[in-house]
Amino acid sequence: MRVFVAGATGAIGNQLVPRLAAAGHEVVGMTRSESKQAMLHELGAVPAVADALDPDQVAEAVGRAKPDVIVDQLTAIGALDLRHFDRDFAMTNRLRTEGTDYLLSAGQAVGVRRFVAQSVAGYGAYARTGGPVKSEQDPLDPAPAHEMRQTLAAIRHLEEAVLGARWTEGIVLRYGAFYGPGTTLAPGEEQFELIRKRKFPLVGNGAGVWSFIHVADAAEATEAAVEHGGRGVYNVVDDDPAPVAEWLPALAQTLGAKKPMRVPRFVGRLFAGQVGEMMMTELRGASNAKAKRELAWRPGHPSWREGFAAA
Ligand SMILES: NC(=O)c1ccc[n+]([C@@H]2O[C@H](COP(=O)([O-])OP(=O)(O)OC[C@H]3O[C@@H](n4cnc5c(N)ncnc54)[C@H](OP(=O)(O)O)[C@@H]3O)[C@@H](O)[C@H]2O)c1
Repeated sequence: MRVFVAGATGAIGNQLVPRLAAAGHEVVGMTRSESKQAMLHELGAVPAVADALDPDQVAEAVGRAKPDVIVDQLTAIGALDLRHFDRDFAMTNRLRTEGTDYLLSAGQAVGVRRFVAQSVAGYGAYARTGGPVKSEQDPLDPAPAHEMRQTLAAIRHLEEAVLGARWTEGIVLRYGAFYGPGTTLAPGEEQFELIRKRKFPLVGNGAGVWSFIHVADAAEATEAAVEHGGRGVYNVVDDDPAPVAEWLPALAQTLGAKKPMRVPRFVGRLFAGQVGEMMMTELRGASNAKAKRELAWRPGHPSWREGFAAA
């Protein structure tokens, strides 16, 4: 198939493009930068230079590529201060709203068969009520933390736009928290280093449940969705959702760091805002049962326990 990947140079794109090319697909990879064209060639894609927020450039790039499938992996998550979550996600939110709409219009114009888009299971999309592990049928958070409201609205927009596109097979992949190469949970990168330096404390009871996914496994599930996914939502997470009180000390040990410090909830809120407090104490995990069943996919790193050590 001809596959157009928007976000081809990012954390997922880096893993996805070579995988699609190796499977025999013709891949066109989108980037804003002329200078990243060589990198895209190396990954196995024909580069298309376009700004995702310019509808004419997107229409032209997609029109020229004439893909069977579009994959939307556009994000722009730079340095993140959890106290100002929406501010720091503002560009990602534009990519998830305007960017998705432009890609959908461009895809409709050339009649793409499938449209696969990145969404979120990993950092607070699911409602924080009921059981600790959510399936795709469970509701998104109707009352997100104040500082995450715009981000949740953008996620909803993306999901509704993709699933509502009845002219194509619209597929939403709700990824868990990424770790591995090209992510902030990798050796030498921000979050591993915070844990190593004991600057990532356990807040309150640490009951927030996280679902992780190695980026290579996320790419493999994405390839499966590109090739044979049906319209709908899939959680792309590992087999082992776990509370912070479990994974954080285990990761600290893996990194050879001292046990994380414990701080009360109000101190967590002071330093990491309501979003940080929520992630540490109320977050819900996600189940990958549907993706395993319907995409015939299994994560190569079934648990973060071994996955972190391997990373
Ligand atoms: N579920 C999760 O846990 C999750 C999800 C997403 C990201 N993250 C993490 O967040 C960190 C940073 O990710 P990131 O989002 O900054 O970067 P990233 O993963 O490097 O991906 C950003 C991609 O979007 C493209 N892009 C952004 N704005 C664009 C625009 N206006 N036009 C065209 N393409 C555009 C970039 O292309 P060019 O730069 O080549 O133009 C790049 O390919 C990583 O650690 C990643 O693991 C985690």
